[in-house]
Amino acid sequence: TDPALIRNFCIIAHIDHGKSTLADRMLQITGAVKPRDMRAQYLDRMDIERERGITIKSQAVRMPWEVDGTPHALNMIDTPGHVDFTYEVSRSLAACEGTLLLVDAAQGIEAQTLANLYLALENDLTIIPVLNKIDLPAAQPEKYAEELATLIGAEPEDVLKVSGKTGEGVEAVLDRIVTEISPPVGDPEAPSRAMIFDSVYDTYRGVVTYVRVVDGMLKSRERIEMLSTGTTHDLLEIGVSSPEPTPSKGLGVGEVGYLITGVKDVRQSKVGDTVTNAQKPATEPVAGYSEPKPMVFSGLFPVDGSDYPALRDALDKLKLNDAALVYEPETSVALGFGFRCGFLGLLHLEITRDRLEREFDLSLISTAPSVVYRVVMEDGSEHTVTNPSEYPEGKVSHVYEPMVRATVLTPSDFVGAVMELCQSKRGQMQGMDYLSEDRVELRYRLPLAEIVFDFFDQLKSRTKGYASLDYAEDGEAASALVKVDILLQGDQVDAFSAVVHKDKAYSYGVSMVGKLKELIPRQQFEVPVQAAVGSRIIARETIRAIRKDVLSKCYGGDISRKRKLLEKQKEGKKRMKMVGSVEVPQEAFIAALSSD
Ligand code: GTP
Repeated sequence: TDPALIRNFCIIAHIDHGKSTLADRMLQITGAVKPRDMRAQYLDRMDIERERGITIKSQAVRMPWEVDGTPHALNMIDTPGHVDFTYEVSRSLAACEGTLLLVDAAQGIEAQTLANLYLALENDLTIIPVLNKIDLPAAQPEKYAEELATLIGAEPEDVLKVSGKTGEGVEAVLDRIVTEISPPVGDPEAPSRAMIFDSVYDTYRGVVTYVRVVDGMLKSRERIEMLSTGTTHDLLEIGVSSPEPTPSKGLGVGEVGYLITGVKDVRQSKVGDTVTNAQKPATEPVAGYSEPKPMVFSGLFPVDGSDYPALRDALDKLKLNDAALVYEPETSVALGFGFRCGFLGLLHLEITRDRLEREFDLSLISTAPSVVYRVVMEDGSEHTVTNPSEYPEGKVSHVYEPMVRATVLTPSDFVGAVMELCQSKRGQMQGMDYLSEDRVELRYRLPLAEIVFDFFDQLKSRTKGYASLDYAEDGEAASALVKVDILLQGDQVDAFSAVVHKDKAYSYGVSMVGKLKELIPRQQFEVPVQAAVGSRIIARETIRAIRKDVLSKCYGGDISRKRKLLEKQKEGKKRMKMVGSVEVPQEAFIAALSSD
């Protein structure tokens, strides 16, 4: 295809603002999908995505569209919506020349819209503002057109008004894509270069890699090289998704499509990497490549110890499709054999755990999520701590923790409540802007560790659900952090160690000690439960002698997961763990970790 007739674009939207619905409608109106093949959310592949209504993986589809009698090829590149996948979002954006900025006409701009807009601006994309859901009675298209126009420096008249549901205005969107977004430019004679913006594992076809060609041409059957590693593969198939995979002879400048090499692991075909011809390789990558970096770690343990091999197999399978997932075996006194797993963020953790439980039918318990700390000792040695129980002994000079740049969008009524929350989470305010009379953008620098716990839930409850949050990595900072250990009769219970700010050590210690006192049955002898920072005891409770049934206590909670876990446990034998000379049923530990 002549590059002048190609347009590459993506859609930036907050969750639920209607991206998938609009994409479906475009597929239908352009005739890319025949009416009889149409089904809702055509592009969302995984069940779990459909259920949660979020798009996890990006994909590209090609649609034909004529303007003034000239046929064009529009490549729509789907971007993952969530902060955990910022790197993937940025690669998808880098594959485009323009983007639709899609905003719900009844909701207005949200934090995620803003965060992704900033990314699009950094990538110099043409922005086409679109208000969606104008069919809703609650829609306020004039108000939000104004808001959107102010934000991107356009006129309110330039804002398109559409309904993905009824199809109203969607043709005008397709026209604007052709007239406003520039065609791709590249050198057709140069050695071939294509950027990988997505890579997914397919049971039947192996890894399917989505690329955007920048220079030259990638041809079917040639030998290709991955620039970051120098590994070479035979290009078994190359083609475009329109939206069903359609093989072609090759892809030229500006084209977007897929390729298949027969590799079985997405790590061999990494998002952000550059693909070139192995015989006549390009020397410069398309864009700087960076490895996905796990930011949040958690221990995953099977409730039933005999499921350990099944958990290992399941993780091995998930890894084929998830370059960001890392894990290594971990043994815990309290929880037995499991894995220490690293994730891009909390959503990534939740999704992975959910998939393990659902698709592989495992019952799991996870330890409190931890970020990665850098601990510098007085003797100058340095440790990277992803597991609080591996915190170094000895004299610590400095502890560094990862920071994030957070954007919160809130109705102006709740500004005070949001500021209070951010301050209580050790946030530093960086700025504040009124997007309109009643909507405010707050920018804070916060420790990632504070966001990882209950920040989002608290933000929602303090703002009656109206505020939205987005965040991006922002380096590290030295903080006054300490490790708190929980001891049973003087022996450390590894799964409960935590790295916390020194001002919060006491409340963490008191709450954990209190919880364990409730959950651990009485023994033949008295058992002290203590919280300690180094050798200093900061909280203490005593479990009195005499036995007592633990299960009645555990059933007090109302969390259904907890109940499910306990029921599963009851079926089998009661599993006891020894901490020193104290005998503890594993469910007591599980209950302590599951409740807040
Ligand atoms: P993710 O891709 O999962 O982040 O969400 P999304 O932005 O794709 O949202 P989706 O298309 O799933 O739409 C969210 C909800 O809004 C669904 O219940 C849709 O039926 C509804 N919706 C989408 N577009 C319109 C519209 O134009 N009008 C009305 N009334 N509802 C719409």
